[in-house]
Amino acid sequence: MQKIIAANWKMYKSRQEARKTAVDLRGMLAAEDLPGKRVVIFPSFTNIPDVLDVFAATPCVAVGAQNFYPASEGAYTGEISLAMLGDMGVSQVLAGHSERRHLLGETDEFVARKTSFALNQGFSVMLCIGETLAEREAGDLVRILSRQTGSALADLPEDCLARLSVAYEPVWAIGTGKVAGPAEVLEAHAAVRSRVVRILGDAGRNVPILYGGSVKPDNAVTLLELDNVDGLLVGGASLNAESFMQIVRA
Ligand code: PGA
Repeated sequence: MQKIIAANWKMYKSRQEARKTAVDLRGMLAAEDLPGKRVVIFPSFTNIPDVLDVFAATPCVAVGAQNFYPASEGAYTGEISLAMLGDMGVSQVLAGHSERRHLLGETDEFVARKTSFALNQGFSVMLCIGETLAEREAGDLVRILSRQTGSALADLPEDCLARLSVAYEPVWAIGTGKVAGPAEVLEAHAAVRSRVVRILGDAGRNVPILYGGSVKPDNAVTLLELDNVDGLLVGGASLNAESFMQIVRA
């Protein structure tokens, strides 16, 4: 399986900064041969056209959106539809990122609606899941991952599954500099894999599972070598082209 290295730029970068980072990254990617890697960049909405333009002739790079509303159109002030994203040339979205769950109130039920809506509209979805520190300390890791996975992946049509990926991002590791250790990542990814296979059957074996949470150039190699780690979702360290490129090379 190709490794997916995804960049989540969150609410960072002016248009000019986004274009510059993208141009720098394109230059570095062009200078190397990395056949086993696929890169996905999730800029803010307003920076998507510039980043798409920069990577228009770079087939190993896809550009996705960090968010969308699960309805075809309507009176949803401030929201963006998949049709609008599709119009720009985007066909990939994130769903269930911990910042949207914990800071912006998205529930399991809403994340499930978003996941199935986007998959049914032909988009690729990177579903993010992960436990808080309190949940982990209470011994609830497997239960939380099962609940988040189970609710989002129930009743998906079979022909969507090739467009699904899951990112395990422990909430306590996001933006904190505290990366999960190899044993913790192995345990969580094994639990996610077995849950995904239980829900989706054999097709679940091919669903990429990414790790996210304080991924840096110096821990990327170790993470990518672990069983069931099919890629990385990178926040802070993806904002700089050189540090993200070090992770892509890992
Ligand atoms: P981080 O963010 O790499 O800065 O921890 C990861 C994410 O939010 O996807």
